[in-house]
Amino acid sequence: MRTQVVIIGGGPSGLLLSQLLHVRGIANVVLERKTRDYVLGRIRAGVLERGLLDLMREAGVAERMRREGLAHDGTLIAHEGGTFHIDFKALTGHSVMVYGQTEVTRDLYDAREKANGQIEFEVEHVEIHDADTDAPHVTFHRSGTEHRIDCDYVAGCDGFHGVSRQTIPLSVRREYEKTYPFGWLGILSETPPVDDELIYANSQRGFALCSMRNANLSRYYIQCALSDKPEDWTDAAFWQELLRRLPDEVSERLVTGPSIEKSIAPLRSFVTEPMRWGRLFLCGDAAHIVPPTGAKGLNTAASDVHYLYNGLRQFYEEGDSEGIDRYSERALARVWKAERFSWWFSSLLHRYPDQNPFDLRMQRAELEFLRTNRAAQQAMAENYVGLPY
Ligand code: APR
Ligand code: PHB
Repeated sequence: MRTQVVIIGGGPSGLLLSQLLHVRGIANVVLERKTRDYVLGRIRAGVLERGLLDLMREAGVAERMRREGLAHDGTLIAHEGGTFHIDFKALTGHSVMVYGQTEVTRDLYDAREKANGQIEFEVEHVEIHDADTDAPHVTFHRSGTEHRIDCDYVAGCDGFHGVSRQTIPLSVRREYEKTYPFGWLGILSETPPVDDELIYANSQRGFALCSMRNANLSRYYIQCALSDKPEDWTDAAFWQELLRRLPDEVSERLVTGPSIEKSIAPLRSFVTEPMRWGRLFLCGDAAHIVPPTGAKGLNTAASDVHYLYNGLRQFYEEGDSEGIDRYSERALARVWKAERFSWWFSSLLHRYPDQNPFDLRMQRAELEFLRTNRAAQQAMAENYVGLPY
């Protein structure tokens, strides 16, 4: 088998790249180790930056998002018993779209299947060969049979635990990592969201977030110990803790109900450099991870896809390799800004076990500065709606 681009990973990064390349007539094959239903069963954040909306429109998959997505012009920050508003629209001229990542992935799968896109599911033992030559190829097994695909380029969109990053020699890779001393316990409940906008809460008991998927599907998170397990938390215990972390005027109107999903996610900041090695390009979680606080995971994967898609388009349509040659440099420049914002926003809102009284006063001062200073709010808003590509 031969194609122009092999894409390893059928998550949002791989599917968005595949659909964009298809629209430009660039042949590609997606290799996914799980089933479509398994991939769609993952619960992930759902705040989309304007850049991702533009890419979805260019890929021809924005119609359902336009109908069902919720445009948010701002967000609320809660601390010391009250809330204040960050007005994205007034400060930046832009909004964000609340639309579950699962729905983005579903729309992309539907589009790939409608276009008869080649997606190989349940593949095993994927290996990238000769990525540092002009003739790379990829092998994989399925049902005990080995398959080979010769290609021009390989896009490693296989997430943090994939094979692509590991293909780049340790002598070439530089990795940067920060782990956080807490996790996020999240639930989904078929209840009306407590507010029209998201509420990020800093409380003495720890971080909390009030989010949503639609008018009758709410998503809530509370900071929890790394040692916690979902089964340690009954619904009643979760709701009680969440309500204690929110201002009274929010708690009083919060509608509780049975959880239909409950999970704990650890928090990590991670970047690997470079994001290119020969004919292999890393994209999305394969190259970087952010704590979910700033909802930058999917959105930073999208900016990688933007740079890689346009670099490949430039090469195939114009014979110009400038875009692919500068892919790693351009993608990383934006990745590090997303890492910084996610780290800053996490440090603003969480309780850290090693915080001393001075640290806590610094956190309070940072929140007060954000509450009272337009320039601080504008900086936060510009990062949240998405820095330009
Ligand atoms: N071979 C084939 N597929 C693989 C392999 C492999 N060796 N390893 C992983 N995969 C698949 C996974 O099953 C998954 O479907 O690659 C896909 C990677 O998808 P994600 O982990 O979702 O990463 P990405 O597409 O970059 O999306 C980034 O999704 O998971 C969130 O937090 C993440 O918001 C971020 C966004
Ligand atoms: C979510 O809805 O899951 C969500 C929203 C915003 C975040 C993180 C998660 O910052």
